[in-house]
Amino acid sequence: MKKNLIISFIILLSVFIAFGMSDARVKGKCKDCHSMHYSHEGQEVTYGDRQGPFPVLTKGGCVGCHGQEPNGIQNIISMGKAKVPQVLHNMKSADLAGGNYYYVADGFTPDYTKGHNVLDISIRQNPPMDVPPGFIQAVPITGGTGPSYWPSVQQLTCSGTWGCHGNRTVEDPYKSMHGAHHSDDSEIDGYTVGRSYRFLYGITGKEHEDWEYLATIDNHNGYKGNISHDTMDTISYLCGGCHAKFHPHPNLGGRAEVGQVYNSLWYRHPTDIAFDSVKGGFADSEYQGYITYSLEAPVAFTEPKGNEVIVDSTSIVMCLSCHRAHASPFPSMLRWDYSDHRAHASPFPGTLRQGHSEMDTRKVTSGKGCLTCHTKKGQ
Ligand code: HEC
Ligand code: HEC
Ligand code: HEC
Ligand code: HEC
Ligand code: HEC
Repeated sequence: MKKNLIISFIILLSVFIAFGMSDARVKGKCKDCHSMHYSHEGQEVTYGDRQGPFPVLTKGGCVGCHGQEPNGIQNIISMGKAKVPQVLHNMKSADLAGGNYYYVADGFTPDYTKGHNVLDISIRQNPPMDVPPGFIQAVPITGGTGPSYWPSVQQLTCSGTWGCHGNRTVEDPYKSMHGAHHSDDSEIDGYTVGRSYRFLYGITGKEHEDWEYLATIDNHNGYKGNISHDTMDTISYLCGGCHAKFHPHPNLGGRAEVGQVYNSLWYRHPTDIAFDSVKGGFADSEYQGYITYSLEAPVAFTEPKGNEVIVDSTSIVMCLSCHRAHASPFPSMLRWDYSDHRAHASPFPGTLRQGHSEMDTRKVTSGKGCLTCHTKKGQ
């Protein structure tokens, strides 16, 4: 009897744990996040430095809640029972998967080339960076089409038509997100904003529980890729919604702008292609040297699970193989310092080339940066 009780308790407990882990709806008291009347202006506790009232009665805007302490050292802040991922903070070596807007935020010695300059975080960048590089008008996106024109006065927003999150066919950032935070996203199928990967409408994938804080090679975000270029649910398609000329999908830049898989030459670096389509074939190619998942230069998968350790011929190159999505410590929001990359820096191991001694000390070796994939270009 007692044994049965214990067993059923254990079963119940594991059901709770499993449920709790897969369901990422916001939890906790309404009053932690909402203010019904915002009646005592200046006295209400709001998140961020802007004053309310805010749409949907929340106690802060998107940046207020997700960047509560720009100079503070917490990358995830607890509000009651909820964990709020912070996209703007000063915690060293603990940037979440998207990166950290700290590097581009006004007031913190910003370098605007290191990331997206989002409204309420940075000022708009000067031309030509006032519009998305590689923009094409009215490309197909989930739910409709992207904007037919990008006005140069239009700054990036977190969500809506001029941002990345939410339904991009809806202009208002808050309307475009309505309902997402309370939806059950235990299944990520892209049908609603709440059920899309990181509220990026239409995108699928597997979400690491702590937004890749302390991610490991067997527990990370699972990015979706698709080498047939016939769906719009990949993470690279999301980027291509604005930077269309950089993606080989026929809805976007396609062959004319990027090039063609298999035999032809590329004009722009390919994404959403697998290693098995490289020129001359995968066998004996330099890409064969990338065998273990790298958090520095990650790859996408056709059916991402977030626990892939092995990289093989079916693994897929994506925009986020080289870039962060928000901002990074490096120019062009890259995942590593590209200015350090030199080809064949030390042709004779152990000897220094005359006059080039600094090359060897600064050499980026196979397995790092671009050479995670192009394993033979540094040798
Ligand atoms: C009152 C605070 C609050 C406000 C305001 C807020 N969020 Fe959130 N947000 C949260 C919390 C809490 C979570 C974590 C929910 C979870 O565990 O998935 C979250 C999660 C997210 C995520 C990650 C979802 C995932 O799958 O991990 C995104 C993206 C996001 N919010 C975007 C936004 C945008 C865009 C806005 C403005 C329209 C916004 N948030 C406004 C509290 C807030
Ligand atoms: C809603 C449109 C939009 C989407 C979607 C978008 N971007 Fe951008 N991106 C912009 C705009 C506008 C700029 C230029 C202004 C700026 O840097 O903020 C830009 C700039 C950039 C830059 C150059 C940064 C610099 O200042 O040098 C990179 C790199 C970049 N985007 C990569 C990406 C990646 C990777 C994705 C997908 C995760 C993506 N973008 C998705 C609009 C977008
Ligand atoms: C951890 C923060 C958090 C808590 C706790 C929270 N909410 Fe919300 N809620 C949000 C955010 C952020 C939005 C706006 C963005 C969105 O719609 O996704 C929102 C939107 C809503 C909406 C409009 C969209 C929808 O889903 O219908 C309602 C209604 C709502 N909340 C009611 C409540 C009530 C009632 C409670 C308490 C039982 C509560 N919320 C607790 C963060 C929270
Ligand atoms: C995630 C893996 C990956 C990373 C990281 C990566 N590449 Fe590539 N790269 C590829 C693949 C795959 C191809 C396609 C090769 C083919 O089709 O033969 C490619 C193609 C290229 C080409 C064109 C080759 C050709 O034959 O047309 C160049 C040049 C290039 N990459 C340079 C770089 C540089 C520079 C970096 C770092 C900024 C980089 N790559 C990072 C995987 C990667
Ligand atoms: C192989 C690595 C790699 C991949 C994959 C990659 N990029 Fe880049 N990207 C770079 C590098 C490196 C730069 C800096 C400029 C340069 O050296 O060409 C850059 C620059 C940019 C810029 C800034 C252009 C400017 O005018 O300054 C944007 C925007 C951008 N990338 C978007 C994307 C998008 C969107 C994708 C996916 C469709 C993507 N990148 C895929 C490496 C990559």
